[in-house]
Amino acid sequence: MNNIQTSTLNETIRSRHSVRKYVPNVRIPEAELNEILELAGTAPSSWNLQHWRFLVIQEEENKQRMLPIAYNQQQIVDSSAVIVVLGDTQAGLVADEIYGEALNSGAITQQVYDTLIGNIQRAYASSATIGVEEAIRNGSLAAMQLMLAAKAKGYDTCPIGGFNRDELVKTFQVPDRYVPVMLITLGQAAGPAHGSGRFPIERTVIHETFASSAAE
Ligand SMILES: Cc1cc2nc3c(=O)[nH]c(=O)nc-3n(C[C@H](O)[C@H](O)[C@H](O)COP(=O)(O)O)c2cc1C
Repeated sequence: MNNIQTSTLNETIRSRHSVRKYVPNVRIPEAELNEILELAGTAPSSWNLQHWRFLVIQEEENKQRMLPIAYNQQQIVDSSAVIVVLGDTQAGLVADEIYGEALNSGAITQQVYDTLIGNIQRAYASSATIGVEEAIRNGSLAAMQLMLAAKAKGYDTCPIGGFNRDELVKTFQVPDRYVPVMLITLGQAAGPAHGSGRFPIERTVIHETFASSAAE
């Protein structure tokens, strides 16, 4: 265990708060933004299918189009960028891109490849809702990493679920295959976030089984 890394991560996690007031007109250097997005994409995902896609909105005109979609939350226009985290509801289709290379390079055998592809295909055919569930589940992991990566670089964020999905899809011509997971505003804080508390772990952790617990 590396204590130096652990304490840095703890600090980043504990200092992240949802910031809703940003210094306007701050452009995040492209290299920094790309690094944040790349770090977000190191998140784990089912079968490494990497369900996330990031629609990055920085142009004033597009922020103005996003503003009513996000019910006029001012942070949309004041932040440096709005990242629309999308989830791939048909992520099973990229399985060959992920495992084909491993097969060709000899990293996995044909048998392992066939098993993996078969499992993925069966899982995606197993229910009508699995594609959306997987897209949101896995996309959310990347969203969280994005917020922490941004914080570690000195930027702040706010996750936003308050937006009109249909309008977003229509306005930004999001293909049917992708489901909006959340928006994330990203920028330079103009002031501290509101305070927010958390339940103590006694309220959120259930040991072993609910049977012997007072938790509901
Ligand atoms: C899925 C999700 C949706 C949220 N939607 C909004 C939103 O639409 N507008 C907003 O200002 N904050 C939104 N928030 C931020 C929460 O209010 C915030 O995370 C919570 O109050 C805890 O505060 P903290 O993030 O500063 O710790 C959302 C957070 C999550 C995770």
